[in-house]
Amino acid sequence: MTRQYHRQTAYGRHGMSGGLLDWGNQPQPFKTYQGAKVEALPWPPELPASPLSRIIDPPPLEGRLSANHLAALLHLAGGLTARASHGGQDFYYRAAASAGALYPTEVYAVLGDVDDVPAGVYHWPVSRMGLARLRDGDHRPVMAAALDESEVHPAYLVLTAIPWRSAWKYRDRAWRYCLLDTGHVLAGALWGATALGLDHWTWYRFQDESVAEVLGLDPDQESPLAIVGLGKPSAERLTVLPLESDLPQAAPLSRREETFAAILDARDESSGAISRRVPPPRPRRAGREAVTLTPTSIEADLPVTIGRRRSRRNFIRRPITLTQLATLLEAVMGAYPGDVYGAAPGRVGLGRTFVVAGQVDSLRAGVYEFHPASMTLAPLTEGDAGAELASAGLGQAWMARAAVNIILAADLAALETERGPRAYREVMLEAGLFGQRVYLAATAQGWGCCGVGAFFDDEVRALLGDPEALPLYILCLGPIKGGVR
Ligand SMILES: Cc1cc2nc3c(=O)[nH]c(=O)nc-3n(C[C@H](O)[C@H](O)[C@H](O)COP(=O)(O)O)c2cc1C
Repeated sequence: MTRQYHRQTAYGRHGMSGGLLDWGNQPQPFKTYQGAKVEALPWPPELPASPLSRIIDPPPLEGRLSANHLAALLHLAGGLTARASHGGQDFYYRAAASAGALYPTEVYAVLGDVDDVPAGVYHWPVSRMGLARLRDGDHRPVMAAALDESEVHPAYLVLTAIPWRSAWKYRDRAWRYCLLDTGHVLAGALWGATALGLDHWTWYRFQDESVAEVLGLDPDQESPLAIVGLGKPSAERLTVLPLESDLPQAAPLSRREETFAAILDARDESSGAISRRVPPPRPRRAGREAVTLTPTSIEADLPVTIGRRRSRRNFIRRPITLTQLATLLEAVMGAYPGDVYGAAPGRVGLGRTFVVAGQVDSLRAGVYEFHPASMTLAPLTEGDAGAELASAGLGQAWMARAAVNIILAADLAALETERGPRAYREVMLEAGLFGQRVYLAATAQGWGCCGVGAFFDDEVRALLGDPEALPLYILCLGPIKGGVR
């Protein structure tokens, strides 16, 4: 099956250089609605003091939702965490990583039963803690219908992406980044919900058109990608309210907003791919025994860790221990309540996880496949593959110095046969979600971490030595100069 995302793109020539970027037409990183009333949420919110170990193994989750819960969740998902000045202009870093710091993801809230916040449909402006009201009244029945659910949650968060923000730089390949970035934001919302003790559930599958309509989105410019139901669901019978058409208008993001036909096609079935000469697969060494992993717990506090998370690339050649690696992998791949993949019986995640071990005590350098259900690493090839991976990563040389690189991949053809064309979205969102968890678990252990979305697919695939595994995302991690401050 030839899919759009196996096409070659010009990313290698244009995307990295920045030379052809139209700086005067760069999209605004914050979406604002003119004339919308903003419902203030508590600032600073009371953040839950919660060690990561309690999120991995949480007590029973409750339902009641407050304005403080919403503020805390939004902040942990995508709030502003640091300010820098570039060329006299303020730039804000956020809780979630984003390819090229272009932040395509937006968050909306459809509220029905939240203490201190009236029912309505809202947009979170990010630059301030509040919710801009787009519609009055309780529109949750539309959400339940779009999700094909008979019960309603007290509130829903809807994560969308505006491809133009990423495509301004990354052109057709931006669809990949929209999905991965949205997964990153989702990760903070889900761990945040657990830390707050809130019952929650996640969906990647729903009727896009009705969700876009209730939020008032222009479907050519913005797509709903993930939904989180917050609080205990109930079988309440609610009246379906008419959808008025005179919503507040969003301010334009740039002088000229472009759409990319390939991205619109890719919404269902593509991502764009980079390709050059295909090297032969690395030979596999059969016969070595799988390594069993024994994790311990991580006591670092979640909100503090999210506040400290940044992309750090100044890796030093210092080993981590096998137990530390095991602990990180368990934190990332644990079966969390409310995760989409947690619902798939018999497996943790839709994709496959490969570990390129460079500097791990008592683990031979090489490429391994991680099997989360058995907590084992199956050896695939021997020898330090860091330099090869850095070359496949468009020559980002620092990748070779990371103690470990994690490659998230998927057997896409099999997944699509099993789950239909939407499988690609699901597994990419999941890769972003895992990616943010890798960042957080690495930060909690005092290491640096950086996501890498810029790589030649075929070369990474050859390094894995598995023609079925399509690489989706790479996370580099390990000790860094000066540690995490
Ligand atoms: C999907 C994705 C792909 C990324 N790819 C790269 C990459 O190829 N090279 C790189 O140096 N950083 C990469 N990053 C890191 C971003 O540049 C970084 O998140 C962004 O500049 C914001 O900074 P922060 O993570 O410190 O908040 C990527 C991040 C994401 C989420």
